[in-house]
Amino acid sequence: MNNARKFISLTEQFGTPLYVYDMPLLRRTLADAVAAASVNARFRLHYAMKACYEPRVLAAVEQYIDGIDAVSGGEIELAVEAGFSPERIMLAGVGKTDREIDMALSLGIEALNVESIPELEVISERAVMAGKTASVCLRINPDIDAHTHKFITTGLDENKFGIGMRRLDDAVALAHRLPNIVFDGLHFHIGSQITVSEPFKVLCERVNRMVADLRGKGYSVRTVNMGGGLGIDYNNPSANPIPDFKEYFDTFHSCLDTNHVDEVRFELGRALVAQCGNLMARVLYVKRTDTRTFVIIDAGMTDLVRPALYGARHNIINISGMLRGDSDINADIVGPVCESSDVFATDCRIAEPRRGDILCIQSAGAYGATMASRYNARPIAPAAFIE
Ligand code: LLP
Repeated sequence: MNNARKFISLTEQFGTPLYVYDMPLLRRTLADAVAAASVNARFRLHYAMKACYEPRVLAAVEQYIDGIDAVSGGEIELAVEAGFSPERIMLAGVGKTDREIDMALSLGIEALNVESIPELEVISERAVMAGKTASVCLRINPDIDAHTHKFITTGLDENKFGIGMRRLDDAVALAHRLPNIVFDGLHFHIGSQITVSEPFKVLCERVNRMVADLRGKGYSVRTVNMGGGLGIDYNNPSANPIPDFKEYFDTFHSCLDTNHVDEVRFELGRALVAQCGNLMARVLYVKRTDTRTFVIIDAGMTDLVRPALYGARHNIINISGMLRGDSDINADIVGPVCESSDVFATDCRIAEPRRGDILCIQSAGAYGATMASRYNARPIAPAAFIE
């Protein structure tokens, strides 16, 4: 593992649990994504900042990525603070409040991604009241199974997201009829941590058909937004620190008909930031029972909830044990929170841990710090950076 000694020294400086972001890796990842997206001049990258809005990470993203996908007023504020001007920010979310809609209108953000007909009506009302015009994209639920975890699949008819395909024509007609609304295009997002290209190909086919259909009815579609969803390698992050952006964008380049739209947007979150983030923890106790070895660490589900919430598996390295050259044992790595689900890994192969050792939980840059909670009145882990 690169940077092992730097990780240890940061934990000595800032304590544990600690998020450590590898900024050179972040910049390489962003540059790679931008280069791969340049395969098509109409492709434009947004960053789904829900994945990580650590200010220094956001500021780095701002240097490479055109726009922001925000899902709350709070995210819009953080994006503006990081240097994104409002016309680079889109607001999505299935439950936008009046306050968030008013904020989006008064700042003049790029577009609102609208998830229901009642929401479209409210945006029109609020825009009339404010004397503003809202540029809207309709989020359409394309009813595609992304074959990912059921809690992060979003494009199926049974999910709460988007406007069903059967209501597409009505919604587009309404967007043209309502006052102070400009119909900009269509928005899709079929799920997250998608590691095969098949669902994206199916999405392209559906989108091609929808756009052709709308054009046939006299509606032009200026933009299509294909969402995010590109997965990363959680099993071998050190071997595959940068996702295959080339395959991802090439898939859209070859399957999506871009001749009749001005702009194709992508809003990747995880793929851009997951691998640059690591959660560092210290071993508190090694507890042996008749059948198991529990390694109790000072990071828990309040710092990184993905294992407890989705059964997600993150690779864990005992950096101290590795530097000592200790051999691997089988152990369960668990947190200190009073919940049985506060488990990072069972039967994990790890250099034999001792009290005080520093463990590195990899691939924690996306949906790590942003999903932290203060349950058990635990503090929020700070962030440190490898420059
Ligand atoms: N666009 C929309 C409309 C989304 O809902 C999401 C993620 C994204 C883009 C970015 O997706 P990404 O490129 O990161 O896959 N907390 C879960 C993931 C939730 C994803 C929510 N939506 C996890 O830790 O796996």
